[in-house]
Amino acid sequence: MIQFHWRLPMHGDKADIDKSTLTRGNWGPPLDGNQAPGFRGGGSDGVPYHDYLLETAKAIEIAGFDGALIPSFQDTDDPWVAAAAIARHTKTFRFMIAFQPPWINPVYAAKASASLQRLSGGRLLFNIITGGGGAGQLWWGDRIAHDDRYRRTTEFLDVFKGVWNGGPFSYDGKFYQVENAGLPEPLAGQKWPELYFAGSSNAALEAQGKHADFNLTHLEPFEQLRIKFDRVKELASKEGRTVKPAVRFDILARDTEEEAWAEARRAYAAIDWDARERQFSAQRRGDSVGSPIAEAVRPQRNKRVEDLLIAPNLWAGFGPLRPGPGLGVIGSYEQAAERIDDLIDIGVEGFILSGTPALEEALRVGEEVLPLVRGRLEPARYAAE
Ligand SMILES: Cc1cc2nc3c(=O)[nH]c(=O)nc-3n(C[C@H](O)[C@H](O)[C@H](O)COP(=O)(O)O)c2cc1C
Repeated sequence: MIQFHWRLPMHGDKADIDKSTLTRGNWGPPLDGNQAPGFRGGGSDGVPYHDYLLETAKAIEIAGFDGALIPSFQDTDDPWVAAAAIARHTKTFRFMIAFQPPWINPVYAAKASASLQRLSGGRLLFNIITGGGGAGQLWWGDRIAHDDRYRRTTEFLDVFKGVWNGGPFSYDGKFYQVENAGLPEPLAGQKWPELYFAGSSNAALEAQGKHADFNLTHLEPFEQLRIKFDRVKELASKEGRTVKPAVRFDILARDTEEEAWAEARRAYAAIDWDARERQFSAQRRGDSVGSPIAEAVRPQRNKRVEDLLIAPNLWAGFGPLRPGPGLGVIGSYEQAAERIDDLIDIGVEGFILSGTPALEEALRVGEEVLPLVRGRLEPARYAAE
């Protein structure tokens, strides 16, 4: 069955796509123009940010999604803590924790994961990320070069799986050595947390062939995606495994296509281009192979929003609106569902969708777009038609 996830805004959220001062909860300091301090005599709005994340998780659950990606960057809150907090107050919501192997020891990661599986009734997934290099990697004290980072990720997952599948487990790798590791008896035998795995380089695809359950990529023109997916499938089959394609992207969908464009124009009218250009140039410094492909079309000031359309409903204009990749889907509810069906046709089995604000857009996309996706429940029957 195809998985549909949303994305939790771990770096704060705004109540309207064109109003960066209208923030939600106390993630950041109160900003000039925020309504809450105005209403409350200048103080913070007093809502703990985790409460907003929980409300959003509940909306995601109600809207029919399987769960949500909980991203982790330098400027985000911590996904493990958020997942544990949300788990107690949701029933079906699956939390996809994003993390880079060097952030945590693999034996400890297996232990914390087993605890979360026990706590939540098996609702954990991962987005294994290996890092984009450059200053972003040094921020975490990580000096390992690009391809070696993927070797380290592979070793990390060797150890994680080895410990998960039963101790005593020993391993003698280049990056990790453990002796007689294992899980305490009450934590052993939990359901395996499926692994989404991001990365587009050859090194990434090889690592995915060995360990990933899903090959996760940002949106790209569909033919480009198909070629990438075929390559991962080929590498996985050499290992006797199956790796399912997954894509993450924003959706800006409204009743009609014109309404969606009007929303994009409204959002663009409020962009602070100086701030955005500084952010873009900082993002370009790493060694990521994947991101330059997706970022080839860059929005610039003075460009009309319509000029950023690179294929039917594929809009390269999301970058300046919120942190994240540029390419996503714009159009009517029907058109957005048709593009999702196009992706299902080329084999996508996992979707991570997002929008701003995360709470209302989760309800909108879950209630208006997902029911129109023909391949949602029975992709095989739909493809055979
Ligand atoms: C869908 C997706 C989500 C990602 N999420 C995160 C994240 O939460 N935190 C992070 O540090 N990097 C994240 N990354 C970046 C990856 O760690 C990595 O830098 C990127 O995939 C480049 O790998 P490559 O050189 O193999 O293309 C994400 C990448 C993708 C494609």
